[in-house]
Amino acid sequence: MIDVKGLQFTYPGQKERTLHGLNFEIPRGEIFGFLGPSGAGKSTTQKLLIGVLKGYHGSIKVMDKEIRKMGPDYYERIGVAFEFPNFYDKFSVLENLKLFRSLYSGNIEEPMRLLELVDLSDAAHMKVSQLSKGMKMRLNFCRALLHDPDILFLDEPTSGLDPVNAKKMKEMILAKKAAGKTILLTTHNMQAAEELCDRVAFIVDGEIKLIDSPRDLKLRKGKKTIRIEYRRDSELKEVVFPLGGIGENDQFLRFIQEYPPETIHSQEATLEQIFIEVTGRQLL
Ligand SMILES: Nc1ncnc2c1ncn2[C@@H]1O[C@H](COP(=O)(O)OP(=O)(O)O)[C@@H](O)[C@H]1O
Ligand SMILES: [Mg+2]
Repeated sequence: MIDVKGLQFTYPGQKERTLHGLNFEIPRGEIFGFLGPSGAGKSTTQKLLIGVLKGYHGSIKVMDKEIRKMGPDYYERIGVAFEFPNFYDKFSVLENLKLFRSLYSGNIEEPMRLLELVDLSDAAHMKVSQLSKGMKMRLNFCRALLHDPDILFLDEPTSGLDPVNAKKMKEMILAKKAAGKTILLTTHNMQAAEELCDRVAFIVDGEIKLIDSPRDLKLRKGKKTIRIEYRRDSELKEVVFPLGGIGENDQFLRFIQEYPPETIHSQEATLEQIFIEVTGRQLL
């Protein structure tokens, strides 16, 4: 669906290059995440992919067509939700959606149905200026879905949301994946990356350091052991066993009969540990 090769970019008037030759492919139906600290180049990459930044070197193909040759019909095929939503504050939620809807010529979703989907139908007649940050972000997501696009670009979709709103947003994104959409999102939140993404690209200083699925990474980089917490004479203790052959490990089996575990965990790495190990940087 998306195929990027040797993507380089320098902002006009800047001496330093911002992107140093990115390579990645995103197949149809995947959620692909750019994970990296602030200033890494995540938003810049997305802006190039949606064509609002121009003048790149290398190749960006979306649906087999080079971005620099795309016409305005490209915007009928993609949905974009960026970090700082621009709405008409003095108009209502519904009026805003109707306004944006008039920009599209193809099939259009019914705004009220979309508002129900994102749990905003009660706010349909509120002015945008009265909405909380979480409501605005959901409205922004709604706007990106108006024309039922095949590809969604979401810039920091959970950033600044409280846990309840973040969970709602993640559920909505997963529902769109289930509906067959291809989704490219950026985040500096590794928990969001882990919960949402089929694959993540670690990006630091305009370079991709690694691309893989969060699950494979955690298994490959983690310890192949399990850790048990148990009590002996009411004192909390822990013991570690190798994960391989655990079912035939008599020592382990006898142990858990004698000391019923209070907790039992395999020790895969966290995405954050892996990020730091691979990039030498924190995700701040
Ligand atoms: N309009 C701009 N002009 C010049 N430099 C910019 C502009 N926007 C972003 N940058 C720089 O490009 C780099 C990448 O920024 P950005 O893509 O926004 O990072 P991220 O989204 O990963 O936080 C940063 O060093 C930032 O300062
Ligand atoms: Mg950004």
